[in-house]
Amino acid sequence: MHLPKGPQTPVFVQVLRWVFSPMSFLEDCAKRYGDIFSIKLAKDVPPIVFLSNPKDIQQILTNDNNQLDSPGDWNDLFEPLLGKHSVITLSGAEHQRQRQLLMPPFHGERMRGYSQVITDVTEKVIGQYQIGQPFQIRSVTQAITLRVIMQAVFGLYEGSRAETLQHLLSDLLEKSSSPFSVALLYFPALRRDFGPIKFWGEQVQIQQQVDELIYEEIQERRENPDPSRTDILSLLMDARDADGQPMTDVELRDELMTLLVAGHETTATALAWAMYWIHKLPAVKARLLQELDSLGDNPDSTTIFKLPYLNAVYSETLRIYPVAMLTFARRVIETMALGGYELPPGTPVLGSIYLTHQREDLYPEPKKFKPERFLERQFSPYEYLPFGGGTRRCLGLAFAQWEMKLALAKIMTSYELELANSVEVRPKRRGLVTGPHRPIEMVIKSQRQITSRILETTTVS
Ligand code: HEM
Repeated sequence: MHLPKGPQTPVFVQVLRWVFSPMSFLEDCAKRYGDIFSIKLAKDVPPIVFLSNPKDIQQILTNDNNQLDSPGDWNDLFEPLLGKHSVITLSGAEHQRQRQLLMPPFHGERMRGYSQVITDVTEKVIGQYQIGQPFQIRSVTQAITLRVIMQAVFGLYEGSRAETLQHLLSDLLEKSSSPFSVALLYFPALRRDFGPIKFWGEQVQIQQQVDELIYEEIQERRENPDPSRTDILSLLMDARDADGQPMTDVELRDELMTLLVAGHETTATALAWAMYWIHKLPAVKARLLQELDSLGDNPDSTTIFKLPYLNAVYSETLRIYPVAMLTFARRVIETMALGGYELPPGTPVLGSIYLTHQREDLYPEPKKFKPERFLERQFSPYEYLPFGGGTRRCLGLAFAQWEMKLALAKIMTSYELELANSVEVRPKRRGLVTGPHRPIEMVIKSQRQITSRILETTTVS
């Protein structure tokens, strides 16, 4: 049995390319070997098969013949941060159990309940910036998404514990986002301090402080139960599995950490990219403002959510530079035919979201930001998959969609902004996901008034 072709360079060279320039590595491999190829990232484990043809992606995500599973222990890169009981690091029946417990707060119909929080937090955060003073847009979007997820998880959350937790989480994620931190994950022997270089030790220390605060919060909730609370932590504490069992404290800690991390990093980056493209391309900005302004003052959140051009801008943002390059790994459990090869049991298979979104046959001129694509045709869930699919599809899909659209609408209708310079921004690795290769600087030019909004709408149309 032959695995798909792939680079023949030594393993450590492939790891270095994967850690430091994953997107160009994937593109080079796709150019050379086509829709399916293998990369070797460790000596004693089989090469990983990467896919970008929607037909193959459909086969692994629907898994109709049960030829694959999705082992959480293969996501152990996330374990130092999220723990062993995170839905991301669990497998099989335990993964299913945890997913069932986590799903209710993320159902579409609950999203309206988060709308006010998203709008209020966005207004508060962006309102702190002065007209004319340049700032990094990712700091703004990260502050928005972190506060929103904290409020969704803990309910109205103020005071010194909330503040400290927020700062520690930002710090922890900033530290773990460098390629060097990712290298530590791939080479566990490096996870220690080297003399005065206490990079790993610092991360562990912050992690311990975060854990203490989360356990304190859980303890306090157990001592003072309040049945009127509807935040995610309360729902998780009340949830029971099929055997009537509640989640343990350690399980709660790992899931809270998972939601706090997965629930804000990705959305913060996606929002920053959206702001970049909207302000880079005047025609996109004009059309978006025209659509938003046509709703008048205080539009209903569902009406904003359904706006076609806003949806197209949001979709194209996650198409061109998807924050997650890949789906989580699937493992072949019984020999399977895929993309013209017979894959033996044990082979790891990953859907490349990035390469699929860059396919010329699906997205002509794929390097161009063109929201119209999403108005002109519908893409299948295997052609467009920023949130993955199948048994591990992103739990926060509706939450992220809702948050991105409402936050964008709030910022765009409240302020006139521009990019502080015209430097091109490209994607690069940011921890285990991707983000802008340099800070995107923006500046507020003025506050938008309703009269000027009406005038602008008239001028554009
Ligand atoms: C733009 C924002 C986001 C993007 C692009 C994104 C992307 C993804 C992707 C690609 C996966 C893997 C899916 C697969 O392997 O098939 C995933 C899983 C996951 N995401 Fe997201 N995500 C986003 C926001 C969120 C938010 C807001 C939350 C929670 C509030 C969240 C929670 C999760 C969880 C818990 C999983 C693991 C699911 C499992 O293993 O069963 N994500 N996400």
